[in-house]
Amino acid sequence: MKISIASDHAGFEQKQGLVDYLVAQGHDVIDRGPDSDERVDYPDYAALVARDVAGVLVCGTGIGMAAAANKVRGIRAVNVVTPRFAELSREHNDANIVALSGRFVDVDVNRAILDAFLATPFGEGRHAGRVEKIKALEEG
Ligand code: RB5
Repeated sequence: MKISIASDHAGFEQKQGLVDYLVAQGHDVIDRGPDSDERVDYPDYAALVARDVAGVLVCGTGIGMAAAANKVRGIRAVNVVTPRFAELSREHNDANIVALSGRFVDVDVNRAILDAFLATPFGEGRHAGRVEKIKALEEG
């Protein structure tokens, strides 16, 4: 699977590890940066991944990344701290970006979150109409 990933300075260390983890699983990973843990503004990196339309973002909490990415049309970014929420965000909400916490969630939990996010299909059925209503909100 093609997966775009980025972080800010607070998520940089985990992002590096998660890139290696995803590559080892055979994914085609696009690393949108940054290349160091120098201080940066997370909306700049959220925008890069959001414009790729699917991916992984890591900042201190994941909250700012999700908020910024959700400003881009077509994005349903979710700030997830448990694997179960990752499954539900795919199954019920057809989330296309997972925003992780690099400061408050261990990297092994974030790996499990990524596994769940990538492995879970959208549930369709009763959820499809609700996701269509989210999309309709973009039309104003
Ligand atoms: C950076 O200090 C921090 O604000 C950022 O990584 C993120 O947690 C914002 O939501």
